[in-house]
Amino acid sequence: MLFPAFLHKGQYAISNMFFDTTRAHVELAGARAIDCVIEEAKNPSHRCKFKGNMDVERLEKIILEKGPENIGLVVMTITNNSAGGQPVSLKNMRETAEVCKKYGILLDIDAARYAENAYFVKRDEEECKDMSIKEIIRKMFSG
Ligand SMILES: Cc1ncc(COP(=O)(O)O)c(C=O)c1O
Repeated sequence: MLFPAFLHKGQYAISNMFFDTTRAHVELAGARAIDCVIEEAKNPSHRCKFKGNMDVERLEKIILEKGPENIGLVVMTITNNSAGGQPVSLKNMRETAEVCKKYGILLDIDAARYAENAYFVKRDEEECKDMSIKEIIRKMFSG
C-alpha cells in the first residue's frame, strides 16, 4: 500500500539493502531498487560492528546522479537482514536522515527487526551504552 503511493515508474528507491520482498514491492510499483550498503558488508569474513550501515557518501552521490526528484524513497532496513542480519548504528541512521532532509526525500524504515537493532546499538555504540533500549528506539524513529 505504501510503495505505490510514493514510488512511480522511472523513479528509484535506495536502501542500505532491500529485503527481497521489499525489493519486489519497489519493482511492482514500477521503480528501481538500489542497494547502498557499506563496502565492508560485501566481505563475509570481515568483522566490524555495524556492518549493515548505509554508505552515506555514496547515498548522496546516487541522489545527485539520479536527481533528488527521481528518488521516491530512501529505505533503511534495521537490522540489515539481507546482509546477514547486520545492525545499523544510531549515528548512521541520523546521518542518513540528514541527507534525506537535505534533499526533501522521504525516509522509510523497514523495521522488521528494530528491537534487535536497538540491542546492538546499546551493546556496541559507545555513545549509546548508557541509554535505555526504549530511548534508543525513540531516537531510531525520530530521525
Ligand atoms: C527486513 C525485513 N523486511 C520485511 C520482512 C517481511 O517480509 P514479508 O512481508 O514478505 O513477510 C522481513 C521478514 O523477515 C524482514 O526481515
